[in-house]
Amino acid sequence: MRTSIFSCSKCGNQFPKWAGRCESCGAWGTVLEEENQTTAHETEKNTSKPGKIKLFSDKFHATANTIPTNVHALDFILGGGLVSGSVSLIAGEPGIGKSTLLAQCALAVTKNGKRVMYVTGEESPTQVKRRLERLSPKLPETLFALDETNADIIAATILNQKPDLTIIDSIQTIRTEQANGEAGSVSQIKSSAAIITAAAKSSSCPVILVGQVTKEGDVAGPRILEHLVDTVLFLEGDNAHRYRLLRCLKHRFGPTDEIAVMTMTEHGLETVTDPSEELLRDRLINTSGTAITCLLEGHRCVLIELQALVTSAGYGTPIRRATGIDQARLGILLAVLAKRANIHALDKDVYVNATGGIDARDPSNDLGLALAIMSAVKEKALDPRTGCMGEIGLAGELRPISLPEVRLKEFSRLGFTTVIGPQIKKIQIPKGLTYHGVGTLREAIQYS
Ligand code: TYD
Ligand code: MG
Repeated sequence: MRTSIFSCSKCGNQFPKWAGRCESCGAWGTVLEEENQTTAHETEKNTSKPGKIKLFSDKFHATANTIPTNVHALDFILGGGLVSGSVSLIAGEPGIGKSTLLAQCALAVTKNGKRVMYVTGEESPTQVKRRLERLSPKLPETLFALDETNADIIAATILNQKPDLTIIDSIQTIRTEQANGEAGSVSQIKSSAAIITAAAKSSSCPVILVGQVTKEGDVAGPRILEHLVDTVLFLEGDNAHRYRLLRCLKHRFGPTDEIAVMTMTEHGLETVTDPSEELLRDRLINTSGTAITCLLEGHRCVLIELQALVTSAGYGTPIRRATGIDQARLGILLAVLAKRANIHALDKDVYVNATGGIDARDPSNDLGLALAIMSAVKEKALDPRTGCMGEIGLAGELRPISLPEVRLKEFSRLGFTTVIGPQIKKIQIPKGLTYHGVGTLREAIQYS
């Protein structure tokens, strides 16, 4: 028996008979007739089998199977390797080394006799082969190429071949008939990734997608795929520098607070075991305009060098250039230095740089940057065994930062004898280290 019900399209209230005006919200002409679905549904029999419930207090068996990639940095960040059926995205600017890292990964995974399929969308299979041969002259018997940009065909191949790992380089070049637009458009990337994700899940085969990020931001980049994939990794650094940072922005199967530092060599990307030591190795001692600060990335501390160059400005507005440092933050610090500490560089050209191509935009680097600028203005080098840390407020006050003790340990481990930072109550200072906890930038300058 067909029953009807009338419901308001505005407020959703239901009525047994039609009315010109909704009694509930008062809107006119919004009450429409529709089939009474609840009544219709109640008369039908529910044929679904009930789901199984279990006690939270019981032991849960981990069903996820992890495949190690045998690439140290990747396994470290992923907490052991790739979970079966998972989809990971490796994002980064062009030329940063995504294809290199994945070529290494493809070769390393085959070491355990696993089958790897490399989908070459962006480059020709010959180009990818050349890269692989550069890394390993003899190519393994279980490494396959698929020269394809159609997401449906790639998904069907995953389901049919069930490779132990599929690498798709890159998602921007993949398209599907099921969506409109050019390859690389938001709708194409989303739909293609969804088709490939479905194949990964139903075949339990892990997939790694490469995502290009433009310098201007993340146009059609990882943001639109973030909710779709299980893991988002970011490879960053400066093409001109040797160092690359691999960080995890999202990981459904573990913590996201580890980073790996790698360096580009002729044999691909190699993990740096002691990043602080590596980053400080090339620094010039007794040169003005540099300061050492501690960058905290997740659980990991890395000591980095901040550099400043201050020169007389030519005509017009003074130049400000910042690499690895926020340009707006630089402007604020120059103003605070002038107003609160009598260090004048506002009318000068100022260039600042975090060495190694590291992203040092964290506010805890404020004091390091301010002291580097101060040292450049005064043309006086800071003591090479003094480090600094702390955020600076507009009043010139030094603000507390997270995990100061972890940072102090790192300074101490690398042979620093003095650290200047904010005042901290009850702090444990490593043996052999002097900590100057100060309230203001002016005081910090006195100790430097
Ligand atoms: P690539 O991995 O193609 O970057 P992406 O895929 O992110 O665009 O290339 C990165 C750079 O690394 C490229 O300029 C060549 C260089 N490279 C090395 O220095 N050593 C190597 O062993 C390889 C394979 C590449
Ligand atoms: Mg590439």
